[in-house]
Amino acid sequence: MKVPDTLATAFGAPFEQCITQFAVDQGLIPDLASIQSPRFVARSIVPHVIKLSSLFNRDEKDQASGLNPYWKQSAHPAHLRLAYFLYFMPSNLFRVASIWSELARLGFQWQNKTFQAVEFGAGPASGACGIAAGEIYHSIQLPKQGSWALIEQDQSILNLGTQWAQTYFSHLGLPEWSIRPFHRKLDPLQGFLPPRAPKFNLWLMSYYLNETQNDPQKLAATLLQDWSNHLEEEGLIILVEPALKLQSRRLLELRKELLIQIEKKKTHGIQVLLPCLGHQACGALSAPEDWCHEEVTWWRPPYFRKIDKMAGLDRKTLPFSYLVLIKSRRPREEILPALAGSTPTSRHRLVSPAHSEGRESEFYICGNDGKRKARARPKKTLESENGFDRGDILIGADLRGDRNSGRIDSFQRKI
Ligand SMILES: C[S@@+](CC[C@H](N)C(=O)[O-])C[C@H]1O[C@@H](n2cnc3c(N)ncnc32)[C@H](O)[C@@H]1O
Repeated sequence: MKVPDTLATAFGAPFEQCITQFAVDQGLIPDLASIQSPRFVARSIVPHVIKLSSLFNRDEKDQASGLNPYWKQSAHPAHLRLAYFLYFMPSNLFRVASIWSELARLGFQWQNKTFQAVEFGAGPASGACGIAAGEIYHSIQLPKQGSWALIEQDQSILNLGTQWAQTYFSHLGLPEWSIRPFHRKLDPLQGFLPPRAPKFNLWLMSYYLNETQNDPQKLAATLLQDWSNHLEEEGLIILVEPALKLQSRRLLELRKELLIQIEKKKTHGIQVLLPCLGHQACGALSAPEDWCHEEVTWWRPPYFRKIDKMAGLDRKTLPFSYLVLIKSRRPREEILPALAGSTPTSRHRLVSPAHSEGRESEFYICGNDGKRKARARPKKTLESENGFDRGDILIGADLRGDRNSGRIDSFQRKI
């Protein structure tokens, strides 16, 4: 995914100053010097980052058993919270901001006069803060005023998230964004919001759905019912999930179920926007061993690089799976003006990195006709070594050959 430099470099010293000062003010770390102390980081942060990392990668548990309630599983929940806050929160923040930036890159403009957003399974408000960063560094013209509802089952992480969102919104120059915390255990089978809840125009779930155990058919039905009752016209839905095969495929299964149910009941007015740019059958899901993910690269905060080094991790590149939908009756080419002049059959997205094969580039593309391997001769550009990158959209590609050895002789444009 292409991320502008303004966003990729937005987590340097000023961000570090903001997050570490906040951690001191909240009593999470003793003082500003501790984050610079190898001894403190090695003892109080790194082991918990490693523990959480292995939990999230499902190294220790069988995949189906889920993660809950990891905040209380440890003898030192405060250490786990600190590790999550300093390490996983900024990573998810950046992932969500990158998705916002992809909307901006394709020309998406906010249509509503208001901005009322909800994050489910908010943890430390990573997603809400990601939208704020996305809006500041690659705007889609949100109104100045906004409100967030944060819904979370764990009181301590919710309190932390509420305080942090306030601090970070101000840091970014968004003091008119307000936050309301809701301490709740969500039950997807009962619906995500009570009937009396208001309508929102942004619905965000970042790394939350994989912690629910419900089958895609039921989940799709609940979500569509909730979006029908609690999402404004032109409201956006952003779902972000791990790039792991099982969790990613669960998101693809959910997309499939949503499309089946949307098709049955056309009144929903819900459309898939990203990453697929259409309602075609998922190209990855058709192969049992395949899945779909994106990657973004950022300049990590300096303290984060030290944690990575000590923990033997490398989160310079952040993978994730995602889905963006909208409740709108406008054609997709009007919602994403960069697609103007194209049709669903004329659009293909690169869903893998491109590597050189002699004078050609080879990669996987996905479009209306499914996923396939293809080669093309790159035009020399400054954008990347071989002219093609994961996430690129090719319009009007002249494709021949079969699924395993396709060839693109020419294309009208690359976005
Ligand atoms: C991996 S964290 C993600 C937090 C944040 N959204 C992010 O992107 O970093 C998942 C969060 O969902 C919360 N959660 C899981 N199941 C929940 C439920 N049934 N009701 C409310 N919150 C839940 C967990 O407590 C946890 O804070």
